[in-house]
Amino acid sequence: MSPPRLEPAEFRLLRELINELAGIMLSDEARMTVERKLSERVLALRLPSFHAYYQYLRYHPQRKAEVERALEAVTTNETYFFRELPQLHAFEREVLVHLRDCARVRRSLTLWSAGCSTGEEVYTLAILVARSGLFTGWDVRIFGNDISRKVLQVARKATYSESSFRAMPSEFQRYFVSTPEGRAVDPAIRAMCHFGHFNLLDEARVAMLGRVDAIFCRNVLIYFDNASRRRVIQALYDRLQPEGYLMLGHSESLLNTSTAFELAHLRGDLAYRKPARTGSMRPGGHSS
Ligand SMILES: C[S@@+](CC[C@H](N)C(=O)[O-])C[C@H]1O[C@@H](n2cnc3c(N)ncnc32)[C@H](O)[C@@H]1O
Repeated sequence: MSPPRLEPAEFRLLRELINELAGIMLSDEARMTVERKLSERVLALRLPSFHAYYQYLRYHPQRKAEVERALEAVTTNETYFFRELPQLHAFEREVLVHLRDCARVRRSLTLWSAGCSTGEEVYTLAILVARSGLFTGWDVRIFGNDISRKVLQVARKATYSESSFRAMPSEFQRYFVSTPEGRAVDPAIRAMCHFGHFNLLDEARVAMLGRVDAIFCRNVLIYFDNASRRRVIQALYDRLQPEGYLMLGHSESLLNTSTAFELAHLRGDLAYRKPARTGSMRPGGHSS
């Protein structure tokens, strides 16, 4: 069988479905990439066309597993250790100190990497927490979630090839051990880190996380449409402790998304912070 072609009308249907399921909004230019990445699935299922594949994803009794495969194929999973270093320095030097002061009584710290991909961001945060020395003897949890099971398998294995270390300053090498398969994260760092498979649009599942002190949601919402972005930001806002921080990627902002956060002017960066007294203000500036 020759590979099927993804016609513009079929692409529009698939794009709508992907948006509905995961928040991701594919651009017109993505059509050929989607064709290349998903034609293998159309052939594997012995379907006659992308339209039949769309119907399968929507209505087939075994659609759930196929939807996961399709989403895995269209997500961008690029990540690496110590990505956007100036922001991480500001986080370590200023945000962690503030969080230590806020949580002094409960002596617990929870950080969340929302859309963590293969886990480098989660372990980076754990290393910064460990190095800061601010939370010794505390209950520390660093949590990562992703919509793709495949990337989470890599995250849980915690062993990485050289490309994951391309931006890591050499001073952090001591948190890894060399193995024949690559560099493995130190067990003490790993013990702080946990992973979960869920969709950021699944508000009920997100709420199960409990309250967190800071969220990194970097390079995830850039692929979303505005309405989905607003929905996720609302859910993230709800998860944060008062005075908790939201860190976005360097090209991202909450402009046109939410007015509920205050801007935290760090010396080396800007971050968003949930106000100490939240009153009834909701993201978007509406009163509830
Ligand atoms: C480009 S990676 C970002 C990784 C890391 N945050 C960073 O900045 O290096 C984006 C990740 O978001 C995940 N993702 C996309 N949509 C999602 C959703 N609706 N729920 C959970 N994860 C999602 C993708 O699977 C992908 O692994």
